[in-house]
Amino acid sequence: MQEGQELNIGAVRDSFRESLANARTLQDLDELRVKFTSKKGELTLLLRSLGKLPQDQRKTAGQELNTLRDEIESQLEQTSKKIRDSQNEQQEINEKIDVTLPEKGRSVGAFHPVIQTMHEIANIMQGLGYSVATGPEKEEEFYNFECLNVPSWHPARDMQDTFYFQDGTLLRTHTSPVQVRSMLKYGAPLRIICPGKVYRRDNDTTHSPMFNQMEGLLIDKNVPFSVMKGTMSEMLNAFFGRSLRYRFRASYFPFTEPSMELDIECVECSGHDEHCRVCHGTGWLEVVGMGMVHPNVIRAGKIDPEVYNGFAFGIGLDRMAMLKYGISDLRLLFDGNVSYFLSGFEEAK
Ligand code: PHE
Repeated sequence: MQEGQELNIGAVRDSFRESLANARTLQDLDELRVKFTSKKGELTLLLRSLGKLPQDQRKTAGQELNTLRDEIESQLEQTSKKIRDSQNEQQEINEKIDVTLPEKGRSVGAFHPVIQTMHEIANIMQGLGYSVATGPEKEEEFYNFECLNVPSWHPARDMQDTFYFQDGTLLRTHTSPVQVRSMLKYGAPLRIICPGKVYRRDNDTTHSPMFNQMEGLLIDKNVPFSVMKGTMSEMLNAFFGRSLRYRFRASYFPFTEPSMELDIECVECSGHDEHCRVCHGTGWLEVVGMGMVHPNVIRAGKIDPEVYNGFAFGIGLDRMAMLKYGISDLRLLFDGNVSYFLSGFEEAK
């Protein structure tokens, strides 16, 4: 019995040491703990059988078993600590952030070409002393038409052209209502621009029911016609980055007298291509409507037209953007193709 018992302790010790040497994970250690120290564990069974030993052998066997139990417990504890330490170390290595690494590429957005055009022209005009004014898109008939010398019988007030609300207000058909709004707000002298959305009942390949304009207004004493010409050519040359030929054509707007339209030489063919898709062979592009402000409009702005005069202009921003950035179809500006627009237009044309 004694001999068998001794052998048995040695076998359990060997078996524990071998299993421990093969343990790699905390789960392996748990299994070892169960195998040796649980209620039915090998060590527990040995401890239980101590009582069956003859009296004289119990002491040595008991000591041996205690030593084995201490070994098992301390080895399990140490190995588990080692495994946990190395797991933590590994985790630290995995999660370490190397702040010296170069950043990953980011995709950077860009302004919509119409907004970019708006900013560019606004910058140029601010350089000429103009401030930015604003007005509502849902406008009163009074500001959109009445005070701009557009009488009630005028075809521009037709339901066919204008979006009316049931309460008689409307979506402004141009940025010109900001002229009288600004005169009433700031008085004279005055230099303002007003970029913004305008609406008309138009929808085909070259017209959109919503488009963008920039209004300009200068009111001062003795403003000569030549200042309007000079201002327009300055603005256009700065915007297109070169000196373009331009021409004024007599035109009609109820709120300016005389009225003109400004054409610039075709930015695509300069008038050399009779099949040009941009100017259709005319060599000219119409970009601005303008004129000397009608005395009735100045009066509506509560400024004395005997003392003050001035000029106003309206630029089609969508048209300008298309010309500068070589965008051939107006609808591209409004259909929200993000990847097309996020590519940016700085380099274009
Ligand atoms: N409001 C005019 C239009 O929309 C443009 C314009 C503005 C003309 C100012 C003259 C003066 O066509």
